[in-house]
Amino acid sequence: MAKILLIGNGARENVIAETLKKNNETVLYSYLKAKNPGIVSLSKEFEIGNYNDLQKIKHFAQKTKPDFAVIGPEDPLNSGVVDLLNELGIASVGPTKNLARLETSKSFTRNLLRKYKIEGNPKFEIFNKNNIEDAKKFIDELEQCVIKPDGLTGGKGVKVQGDHFNTKKEALNYCNEVLQTHPAVIVEEKLEGEEFSLQCLTDGKSVIATPPVQDHKRAFVGDKGPNTGGMGSYSCENHLLPFLTKKDVEDGLKITQKVAEAIHKETGQYYKGIMYAGLIVTKNGVKLLEYNARFGDPEAMNVLPLMETGFVDVCKAIISQQLHKIKIKFQKKATVCKYLVPQGYPDNPLKNKKIIVGKIPKNAKMYYASVEQKENDLYATTSRAIACLGIADNLEKAEKIAEETTKSIKGKLFHREDIGTKQLIEKRVMHMKEILKK
Ligand code: GLY
Repeated sequence: MAKILLIGNGARENVIAETLKKNNETVLYSYLKAKNPGIVSLSKEFEIGNYNDLQKIKHFAQKTKPDFAVIGPEDPLNSGVVDLLNELGIASVGPTKNLARLETSKSFTRNLLRKYKIEGNPKFEIFNKNNIEDAKKFIDELEQCVIKPDGLTGGKGVKVQGDHFNTKKEALNYCNEVLQTHPAVIVEEKLEGEEFSLQCLTDGKSVIATPPVQDHKRAFVGDKGPNTGGMGSYSCENHLLPFLTKKDVEDGLKITQKVAEAIHKETGQYYKGIMYAGLIVTKNGVKLLEYNARFGDPEAMNVLPLMETGFVDVCKAIISQQLHKIKIKFQKKATVCKYLVPQGYPDNPLKNKKIIVGKIPKNAKMYYASVEQKENDLYATTSRAIACLGIADNLEKAEKIAEETTKSIKGKLFHREDIGTKQLIEKRVMHMKEILKK
């Protein structure tokens, strides 16, 4: 028997729960911010509470006595849940607060790569209230820039020249604005290319990549509209992406292996959990946009259902630092994930509208995200509601399954029909060709 505590309440945690439960021995206890019916139905017991309510988490852990914990989102990592569980003698798949700085402090990560001479950093500088006068000179040196607050911003703080602002003066104004609420701001050169997510599993010594995935941040069809947490994603049966070479993936993995080693040298601690590298292929090779200290959402849904090796065994190997002893295999299948979100999302979402889930097509999967079950009815909240996943031998079939699944779910929702379609994939491939030609 493996008693596992799962923290988190989104579709990412729904797929984590499903994958852990593939092992018949798993007994799942879940701690969630809202009652996700998908997770709750897989759990022996659950508790609803905030991720910074360490007393409540402690009480639930002491009551359920799990063998280990899996931490889904970044917020509990940032509030020190792994440290708390360690004190109770419960190990976690997920880094301590100090090591979760890989995600929660962009300056920590950029400086780490710089100090240990790891390739992948763009040109960047970090400014605070004491040296902000120097920011103008640096911004002037860059053709175009990206401004990143140093800290968690729920995906909303990063501003890109050409997308969110146009002039260097606006860039400087935004730096000053960021410093009102954050200790530092990072100014980076804007990178041109195609982005991909490389979610890696690590015990602090070995780093193993899962198949690469491409997410879609913009809200509307054709990559239009505001940025979101991710409207959907796809992965391919050959474990590459149509614009990505084997070497690109190997380069992304190499960066992550060096970063894992650097974290240990820098802190004396081993990082145990997920290192999700947000990477971009540019004309100068693979560069690092950012790390997340957790699986991606939606990207977890592209990789976990394909995992052939038992996930419980993988988690145990992460904790006991035996990852080098197991071979982690993934099915050679393509996946397409499309999120149904409330109308008006992300800027002005409709609230608490009823959702009706009909019959899901064969070969399709569905994961609950920000929904709330009240008695027998299901309601969308204000964020991404339900993820529809198609798995098939190729992208075309997987896209069709995902699209068909969206039609089984009724409510005041919308999704991006174009994710995983031939037309959008060709646009990505053409873009990559243009970039490499420059
Ligand atoms: N898909 C973006 C993220 O998980 O942060």
